[in-house]
Amino acid sequence: MSETKSKLVHTFGALAELGQEVVNRSDFYETMRTSLHLMLGSLAIMRGGVARFERFEHSMQMVAARALGDEFPLALSLCHEDERQFLVNGLVPIEVSQAQVLPFIQVYDNSLSRLQIELIVPLVIRDEMVGIVFLGEKATGEPYSSYDRDIISAMGRHIGGAITQRNMLADLERQADENRKLFDNLKTTYRDTVRAFAAAIDCKDRYTEGHSVRVGKYSEIIAQELGWGDEQVEGAAVAGHLHDVGKLTVERKIINAPYRINAKESAELNRHPAVGYEILLPIHHPYADVPLAAKYHHERLDGRGYPDGLYDRNIPYIAKVVNLADSFDAMTTDRPYKRRRDPSEVFDDLQRNCGKQFAPEIVNAFFRGMLKELTGESKEKRFRRLLGREYMEAEGLIPNLKNALNGMSPTSPLTFINSD
Ligand SMILES: [Fe+2]
Ligand SMILES: [Fe+2]
Repeated sequence: MSETKSKLVHTFGALAELGQEVVNRSDFYETMRTSLHLMLGSLAIMRGGVARFERFEHSMQMVAARALGDEFPLALSLCHEDERQFLVNGLVPIEVSQAQVLPFIQVYDNSLSRLQIELIVPLVIRDEMVGIVFLGEKATGEPYSSYDRDIISAMGRHIGGAITQRNMLADLERQADENRKLFDNLKTTYRDTVRAFAAAIDCKDRYTEGHSVRVGKYSEIIAQELGWGDEQVEGAAVAGHLHDVGKLTVERKIINAPYRINAKESAELNRHPAVGYEILLPIHHPYADVPLAAKYHHERLDGRGYPDGLYDRNIPYIAKVVNLADSFDAMTTDRPYKRRRDPSEVFDDLQRNCGKQFAPEIVNAFFRGMLKELTGESKEKRFRRLLGREYMEAEGLIPNLKNALNGMSPTSPLTFINSD
């Protein structure tokens, strides 16, 4: 009686250890190895192995083995009949010598008998086949008792549980991976659509070809220089690309007028921020403020902009970024009634209008970005591509920019506040 008792204590100790092992270990293969050793050790079994069922390949892959030698197959294929029989059998150990009808035993009979594999235990968890345990003879040479078989089944349940857990985790990872890919695809599609829209807007205005695309790029550079995160930088680029989307509804002859347009035409053209807002608002953008950038990109800090004449702190920040990008592009490209302005003139204008039209820290960030490229601190040639080599090599550009930066306060003085 006391022998049975100590045997029980010993076995339950091993079982508890196995349970802990399965719960604690994060390395699946290590868990399998330790579990197998615990099972073999607690019942004094000479050799054995654990295989995991790979559903897609319909095969058993060995994940842990002890004393099976090099010749035991690493992958064992399983036919549907085997799977069916194993599922019916459940977690009960099968005597190899009594199961010669199974195709699996017939195919691997050589390997099994050479290593004296006496039992195989199908790991069936919640009616699903997840693996097999192979067990050799006992060290004592005695046959397996029914007590041994019960212990083997209990331990098999733990091992099978660990495999199920691992499978679920792998499924989750696969799913997360697929979701990530889907999301990336969606983002690419969105980005492509935005770029296509920008090209469509630019098509309408033959004098300012590529304007929206350039404003998108300048906005992106400013956002980067302001130290924004990747998502916000992309948001700024999108806002820049779409800022003039409202122009799609303005008559082509007004947009393309080769003369200064009259008041009526001007009023029609000036509707484009509000129209752009209406177009963009119902769209679910991954970035906030895209519609606001369209609506307020012609506002000025001093309240003299349109459509609402907002003052400094009431203007959404993104609209201030796009405003600078937009104005800079207008100054540096040829228009029907005036040619692009020289760099020194443009920088004077931007500085002069700091705090009136433009937020000083945004102008500051823009100058910094340009200077970095001119001094070679940044290897990217974005300004050069947007403005042309000649423009970027204009005399005195670097000292001009340095002077401008030295004379500027890096933060907005917030000179103007809303009067209402
Ligand atoms: Fe505009
Ligand atoms: Fe514009």
